[in-house]
Amino acid sequence: METDTVKIAVLASGTGSNFKALVEGDTAPGVVDVLVTDNERAGVLQLADELGVEGRYMYPGKFRTRFGNAEEKQWADFLEDRGIQLVCLAGLMRILKGPLLEAFHGRILNIHPSLLPAFPGLDAQGQAFRYGVKVAGCTVHYVDQGTDTGPVILQRAVPVYESDTRDSLAARILTEEHMIYSEAVKAHCEGRAVYSRVVRQQKE
Ligand code: GRF
Repeated sequence: METDTVKIAVLASGTGSNFKALVEGDTAPGVVDVLVTDNERAGVLQLADELGVEGRYMYPGKFRTRFGNAEEKQWADFLEDRGIQLVCLAGLMRILKGPLLEAFHGRILNIHPSLLPAFPGLDAQGQAFRYGVKVAGCTVHYVDQGTDTGPVILQRAVPVYESDTRDSLAARILTEEHMIYSEAVKAHCEGRAVYSRVVRQQKE
């Protein structure tokens, strides 16, 4: 029996290497249907074009790190009208606060370049490097109201070498991000990922 396709929207603000990894990776039954960006000049728009995925810019509102409420509702309406079932954040430089979280509760994933809960927020790789950790890594997690909080789906560790710079470490982490994002999306789309911490706590 064929599994129904899960339509995915990727939201990104920058280069889009994780977007590319999701388009090219094995996310079945998930399929990337559309790329939406809050940055008209983002490289990810060009990448979407090259990869044959519809890419569009949508105005996010006047704030720098979050959406305007009306605008977040417009994004949510657009994605719902399109039949999107899973939203993947891939370097979206804004936190979600209202309408998107409500519309897609338990159906929004994010990739973060640290072993959460260590080093949430901006420049996680730099934070880890400056702290002097010997093991760094990346996390795919469900998105909730917090910044880089929410139930973890997958993590991958990478070693930190004496010879590393912040950028060489970031590059090593990014390679693993590309692997685990597709794996986590596939797990979610196949119903193998668990959202609720409450469920997990009750089992313990
Ligand atoms: C990645 O490091 C990701 O973990 C973080 O934002 C960055 C996006 O990079 N959330 P790219 O645009 O996917 O190359």
